[in-house]
Amino acid sequence: MNDHLTVVDHPLVQHKLTIMRNKGTSTSEFRQLLREITQLLAYEVTRELPMTTTSIETPMEDMEAPILAGKKMALVSILRAGNGMLDGVLELVPSARVGFVGMYRDEETMQPVQYYFKVPQQISDRMVIAVDPMLATGNSSAAAIDLLKKAGATDIRFLCLLAAPEGVARMKEAHPDVPIITASLDRQLNEKGYIMPGLGDAGDRMFGTK
Ligand code: URA
Repeated sequence: MNDHLTVVDHPLVQHKLTIMRNKGTSTSEFRQLLREITQLLAYEVTRELPMTTTSIETPMEDMEAPILAGKKMALVSILRAGNGMLDGVLELVPSARVGFVGMYRDEETMQPVQYYFKVPQQISDRMVIAVDPMLATGNSSAAAIDLLKKAGATDIRFLCLLAAPEGVARMKEAHPDVPIITASLDRQLNEKGYIMPGLGDAGDRMFGTK
């Protein structure tokens, strides 16, 4: 754990992650677990949301009670696997606006190719949480963050399920100001850019494709 990388080493997160990694886990269970883990990670990523207070009356007396301050959140899914993490965060922060960045990885060059970009207005006034389950080479994540910064975002966090050391290093080099929150820092990438031990292709596992 350091300022740039937070591994959420919570028993529930780690237990659920083990089930997700298991290749026998069904598509529906995988999706449900990703949603549940995302909620637990979102608890961590929203820890620094600014607070203010409001006057309320409890049945007992008046009080100044804490509430979230004005700054709004934008949740940005890095397509397509990021979509599996949207609902988990939206259940906790229903007022968040949602954006999408379409990036795919060219399997030969392993370089990201952009095909879609749509984010909420006034993104510069929002805390942006970019979600993608797998931080592998970090190339597409770093490129997606580039696009968000070009659109005006200044306060960005990156939320993923698994991270490879190579991806963390790439993100730290390209975007040292973007903290990464993950459930696990895995061992390494293999020669095809897959995370080891990992869980395979997150998109395929959550959508039942191959
Ligand atoms: N994307 C995935 O879905 N899995 C990996 O292991 C790496 C990138």
